Amino acid sequence: MRLSEEQIGALNRQGFLVLPDLFSGAEVDALRSRLPALFADGHEGNIVERESGEVRTSMGLHLRDEGFSALTRHPRLVEPALQILGEPAYIQQVKVNVKAAFSGEVWQWHYDFATHHEEDGVLRPLALNLHVFLDDVSEFNGPLWFIPGSHAVGAHGAHLDTATTSYPLWVVDPPTVKALAEKNGMVSATGARGTGLIFFDTLLHGSPPNMSPWDRAIFSLILNPVSNAATLCGRPDYKHHQDFSPVVPLDDNCLGVM
Ligand code: SIN
Ligand code: MN
Repeated sequence: MRLSEEQIGALNRQGFLVLPDLFSGAEVDALRSRLPALFADGHEGNIVERESGEVRTSMGLHLRDEGFSALTRHPRLVEPALQILGEPAYIQQVKVNVKAAFSGEVWQWHYDFATHHEEDGVLRPLALNLHVFLDDVSEFNGPLWFIPGSHAVGAHGAHLDTATTSYPLWVVDPPTVKALAEKNGMVSATGARGTGLIFFDTLLHGSPPNMSPWDRAIFSLILNPVSNAATLCGRPDYKHHQDFSPVVPLDDNCLGVM
């Protein structure tokens, strides 16, 4: 699958691109049905919310489950990523961010490159974050919020926040967010299950808590050019995989359902 010139232009301008109907309802159902077993398997890549104990994020899924292994190499994700990057890329991180009904907690304002650079020694902000909505994502159940165009600023100042949630994150301070939001506005990334989303490593984003009765599971695949691989390996493999071999897309029917 290739993105059009218009789509590439919108991605470059906004720092993100929404792809409605990227996956069918049957494909999403097949993937989503795997989550309860994965969340209950005691894997250290399952990180729970501080308050509720519900799974917040479930990582390393392509090494734990054949359905997510196929999704990680799916041509509807990998081919556009390779088209954008123009060079071979490896699988840096694979997860589902859950944001459970009533109890899913905040993801503070941040951009992913701050963590990739500080924790993993990645030198350039080239990684792409590729999402697939496994639930309908609305204004109620904790959609991602983006500041469009914030990627163009490059690396903002960031500091490590280990206090706010169970997941340590390099975050951006409120004055920086305020200045950028007042200039560029804010967008919430909503859409039906099966929607795809691509965004850049320096795009400022976060998401509010989920106080709705609806779960909000989102699959996230981060692909990074092999030429830009991590130079540090202090974090567990499931947070930044150390296999830097190039990802090869599978067939379009690799999930085995239409
Ligand atoms: C992230 O930024 O990695 C997570 C955001 C979310 O799932 O809401
Ligand atoms: Mn992020």
